[in-house]
Amino acid sequence: MIKAATARARSNIALVKYWGKAEGTLNVPAVGSISITLDALWSDTEVVFDPALETDALVLDGERRPDGLVRVSACLDILRELAGVGTRAAVVSSNNFPTGAGLASSASGFAALVGAAARALGLQLEPRQLSIIARRGSGSAARSIFGGFVEMHAGAAPDGLDSYAEPLLAGKEWPLDIVVAVTSTGEKAVASGSGMRRSARSSPYHAAWLKTHQADMALCRQAIRTRDFEALAQVAEASCLKMHAAAMAAVPALIYFNGVTVECIGRIRQLRKSGVAVLFTVDAGPQIKAVCAPDARAAVRDALADMPGVVQIIETGLGPGVETRACPS
Ligand code: PMV
Repeated sequence: MIKAATARARSNIALVKYWGKAEGTLNVPAVGSISITLDALWSDTEVVFDPALETDALVLDGERRPDGLVRVSACLDILRELAGVGTRAAVVSSNNFPTGAGLASSASGFAALVGAAARALGLQLEPRQLSIIARRGSGSAARSIFGGFVEMHAGAAPDGLDSYAEPLLAGKEWPLDIVVAVTSTGEKAVASGSGMRRSARSSPYHAAWLKTHQADMALCRQAIRTRDFEALAQVAEASCLKMHAAAMAAVPALIYFNGVTVECIGRIRQLRKSGVAVLFTVDAGPQIKAVCAPDARAAVRDALADMPGVVQIIETGLGPGVETRACPS
């Protein structure tokens, strides 16, 4: 029998970054992380388990992507085992924003994949279990199972079962807006997984990154608990710059910023100095994400849209966790 379902999951951005993996094959992060889920950037994914298929198949943004199947099938295999079936699946996924450009398309993509596949197979899994399975596809995907402010635990168990995400605070409890300044729509040169491995292997600053990370997590939790924007800005910018400093010092160097990224960082710092509640963060790509108070959004958008080299502005509030729907059989 054919079994199918769809899911929509949103992308997220980390305020305290995940950069580095634990030993082993379970894609367990070396550090925890704290993120916010973005409402307007999503992946829509359909999963069809079809006994007529001999292998899993993946179509991403209208193109067949056999190169993406290793991680997709790894997630599907776990769900197949839980459901006691061997049926292969056709996965069709599309993003409403640039794929693989540092806008966390793997986060929304794997969260949507796992949500849709679990639903199609009729598995009643807790969100925490979904996050553990989504982590196998992409570490940040574990966070996109949830909405609002989310904490990912690195965990320590050899089976990876304590390496999961959970909600910290609902988005409506501290509504923040995000203005994304896209500075390049090409796919990034070095995927985050290989970047992390290279940093851990060769960056003299990787150890310092790991050592100072727990303190950043505590500061960030506290800033969220007390809705203290200035404290959030301090810790989020420090975590972002530390991650990039560690990556830049890898051999060969990992420079995810371009010139426009740096100009935008300067502009955001200037805005905050003048009293605008805004902070920046940057992931493994050259896009700038400005997180701001809702009443600062127009000023932030206008300032970033004015920067030479910004090719697109995406505005969003905080969004919900993964949403799934069964397809009629
Ligand atoms: O989940 P991955 O493997 O795409 O790695 C995410 C890495 C960063 O985006 C740079 C940081 C983060 O915590 O999202």
